[in-house]
Amino acid sequence: MSDLNPTVAELVERSNRLGADPKNTNYAGGNTSAKGTETDPVTGEDVELLWVKGSGGDLGTLTPSGLAVLRLDRMRALVDVYPGVDREDEMVAAFDYCLHGKGGAAPSIDTAMHGLVDAAHVDHLHPDSGIAIATAADGEQLTKEAFGDKVVWVPWRRPGFQLGLDIAAIKETNPQAIGCILGGHGITAWGDTSAQAQKNSLWIIRTAERHIKQHSRKNPFGARVKKWEPLSPARRRVRAAEIAPLLRGVASQDRPMVGHFTDDKVVLDFLASRNHPRLAELGTSCPDHFLRTKVKPMVLDLGPDAPLDKVRARVAELHEAYRADYAAYYERNAKALGGEWPAMRGADPLIILVPGIGMFSYGKDKQTARVAGEFYVNAINVMRGAEGLSTYAPIDESEKFRIEYWALEEAKLQRMPKPKPLATRVALVTGAASGIGLATARKLASEGACVVIADLSLEKARSAAAEIGGTDVAVGVQVDVSDAAAVQSAVDAALLAFGGIDLVVNNAGLSLSRSLLDTTEKDWDLQHDVMAKGSFLVAQAAAKVMIDQGIGGDIVYISSKNSIFAGPNNVAYGAAKADQAHQVRLLAAELGEHGIKVNGVNPDGVVQGSGIFAGGWGASRAAVYGVPEKDLGKFYAQRTLLKREVLPENIANAVFVLCSDQLSHTTGLHVPVDAGVAAAFLR
Ligand SMILES: NC(=O)c1ccc[n+]([C@@H]2O[C@H](COP(=O)([O-])OP(=O)(O)OC[C@H]3O[C@@H](n4cnc5c(N)ncnc54)[C@H](O)[C@@H]3O)[C@@H](O)[C@H]2O)c1
Ligand SMILES: [Zn+2]
Repeated sequence: MSDLNPTVAELVERSNRLGADPKNTNYAGGNTSAKGTETDPVTGEDVELLWVKGSGGDLGTLTPSGLAVLRLDRMRALVDVYPGVDREDEMVAAFDYCLHGKGGAAPSIDTAMHGLVDAAHVDHLHPDSGIAIATAADGEQLTKEAFGDKVVWVPWRRPGFQLGLDIAAIKETNPQAIGCILGGHGITAWGDTSAQAQKNSLWIIRTAERHIKQHSRKNPFGARVKKWEPLSPARRRVRAAEIAPLLRGVASQDRPMVGHFTDDKVVLDFLASRNHPRLAELGTSCPDHFLRTKVKPMVLDLGPDAPLDKVRARVAELHEAYRADYAAYYERNAKALGGEWPAMRGADPLIILVPGIGMFSYGKDKQTARVAGEFYVNAINVMRGAEGLSTYAPIDESEKFRIEYWALEEAKLQRMPKPKPLATRVALVTGAASGIGLATARKLASEGACVVIADLSLEKARSAAAEIGGTDVAVGVQVDVSDAAAVQSAVDAALLAFGGIDLVVNNAGLSLSRSLLDTTEKDWDLQHDVMAKGSFLVAQAAAKVMIDQGIGGDIVYISSKNSIFAGPNNVAYGAAKADQAHQVRLLAAELGEHGIKVNGVNPDGVVQGSGIFAGGWGASRAAVYGVPEKDLGKFYAQRTLLKREVLPENIANAVFVLCSDQLSHTTGLHVPVDAGVAAAFLR
């Protein structure tokens, strides 16, 4: 950072400060810029540059590599070749001819505004308070009242080159102005120094907040309605988990989605109000929103206590109506606007509101789902402000459509990397804090799944999850799989974390190596409770979720070579493993009609990383075979046909393959991962 241009350093600092507060701008929303000079390595002369946040980045976490770097003279020269608003999108490709050096990050659509406005520092932000004024029916009048002549109203226009020209002209004709309110959209502020720009941005945001506070009517969303009052926090969460699978199914009809749930007070208050159905129908406004939240949410119109059967029936009706409405919106607008539009991207809702319980939001991964929810919270704040001062009046649906199906947005989507094989899949792995389970959780996460690590110790489950990734990737939950209530709460936790479950690995286990005469009743019960009964309970709770979701699923049992092979000192363990192995076949037969595949893996001799081996089993096996415990892995390897030691990762790979598309037509199968043990061949 030492040879960083000071203008860039200031810009990054300002961006991070502004982006740190979600009230200033939404996640990845808005952009900042600075103009300054650097020595041109070609001529040795000073060259004037524009640094501007590139496409897609987030202000709060912006680094210098997230900036696009353009030659200011060339960027401004585009004005002379600008073909007019009908062809303004062509200017985005022209930015590539203005880049300095390699140009840094890809320039965004807002680059024109930053380059054309005649100020050294420019901020364009999406603050809730600013958008509240920007989306009020009399926003222009409110702008005058709130800011006098320091802030100028710019009527709605889709972001692009023309909007940049408009704002540049406003700055020129209003020398007293420090910024503007962009109708239906957000704010732009400028300054001669970085500090001045930041001060002006924050002044607009805070003045708007104050204005709303002082002038808002009392209950902007109308009176509270008793039947939509929130349930108690504990009941809310139980209820949310109960309906989550149904709603995930709704959001995933066109393509599978990961979910996010929030019962934030902002959401519950909105949903308890009389006006929420009308406002939700009006949809969001900020251009950032439409791809993430769709134009409007689906709203369940039942009280939070409604019987589940009633909810199921009503959700199906509302979903059908939502899809028809969305398809009609697409058809209507594509036809009215004429020309070519990208194909409809699916008609399922991305935001589902449930009065008294909370909000479910959906996306192609957990982060996208979470951010969609955050955006809708922004939208609620905007609606509250706008309704408090005036009437909420977002942009017309044809303008929403022009943004949602904008060729430039479509091109961005097309450029996205291909999703990983397990993207959108939510995996619950039992006994995943150690050994085979941990390796499996790691593998599934690395292939794109969201993973729930369930194990006896919450602390160990959480630290295993943290090692795999943040809470958008993996979470840890406590479970004793032999306890039905504990299994249900682990399943609920998975539903609340990721919206659903579609991949279960029954891995939790333990092993006591005892002869028939030494095996106590307690030994027998423990092994059977954890492995036979435990995997039954987990499969049962998870299958219920999968059936409700209606998008298939996978259940994988980590059985054992010992489910086939008979040897001494193994009666309780081997019998429990044989029980698990037959569950695979029984459940494959029963769940096939729901698209749920059930398969198993038969490992053997996985010494490394295994708590089972470290906890006494290894020592006793070593004694049985007459080898030192530390050489047990090698000893097992020599017994195999391939003469290879089996590692936890080998089992994890088998689980992955069984759940991947590659084996989409396979159910009821056991895959031995034992380096070849003829005595345990399946036939
Ligand atoms: N290691 C091998 O060679 C081998 C061979 C065949 C089968 N297996 C099977 O693989 C699975 C994993 O074994 P590993 O070797 O990784 O052992 P491990 O001890 O390293 O991991 C087992 C995990 O299961 C958890 N667990 C135990 N009882 C539980 C319960 N009631 N509820 C929730 N979690 C519980 C433990 O806390 C532990 O984290 C077991 O089912 C085992 O029988 C292992
Ligand atoms: Zn914007």
